[in-house]
Amino acid sequence: MKKGLLITFEGPDGSGKTTQVQRLAQHARALGYPIVQTREPGGTAISEKIREVILDVSTPEMDDVTEALLYAAARAQHVSQVIRPALLRGDIVVCDRFVDSSIAYQGFGRGLGAGVASINAFAVQGVKPDLTFFLDIEPAAGLKRISRSGGLDRLEKETLAFHKRVYEGYQELIAQNKERYRIVDAGLDADAVAEEIQSLFDAWMAE
Ligand code: TYD
Repeated sequence: MKKGLLITFEGPDGSGKTTQVQRLAQHARALGYPIVQTREPGGTAISEKIREVILDVSTPEMDDVTEALLYAAARAQHVSQVIRPALLRGDIVVCDRFVDSSIAYQGFGRGLGAGVASINAFAVQGVKPDLTFFLDIEPAAGLKRISRSGGLDRLEKETLAFHKRVYEGYQELIAQNKERYRIVDAGLDADAVAEEIQSLFDAWMAE
């Protein structure tokens, strides 16, 4: 039986990831799998503090490189304190965003390029996702959804052009990592998306 697995969720802002991470974790727990549900940036006390610094709308002057390093720093703590120990115990970690978010947002969105992969390789020390769900929604449609739900964070306030570059970044990541990526239409209603993800998960666990 498969164990010690890292399953990540990726997608544009407004793709409904948070709900779907929750739904998959519930589904897998009900099947008896030991599940650790977590998120980035965050997942530890230190990483949640870094999250507040990164997303704070009152500091728009944050340098792009600083931003990339802070995401990587939050991730380093998360990997060493939560993710790696869980994988070593044989648990299944379900994580809302991981390294690919940095490659898409900081690498493509901010235009920082390949340096982002390097700092993240240093941050995660070899931990890699086994399966990644991409919740697919056009950037404009995603932004429309979040603007309806109220207060936007520093990244969500970015221009549509930025979010389009992020989306293109994801398309490249998907093309380079076809084996581990599963693309889900995030435009459907939440129940239909959850069912699709559950059946993809069940099929993958049975492989
Ligand atoms: P997230 O908590 O997923 O936001 P939401 O729940 O509102 O979708 O992520 C917060 C923001 O941080 C989001 O705009 C994406 C961005 N982000 C990066 O730019 N790089 C990263 O490495 C991560 C993990 C997130």
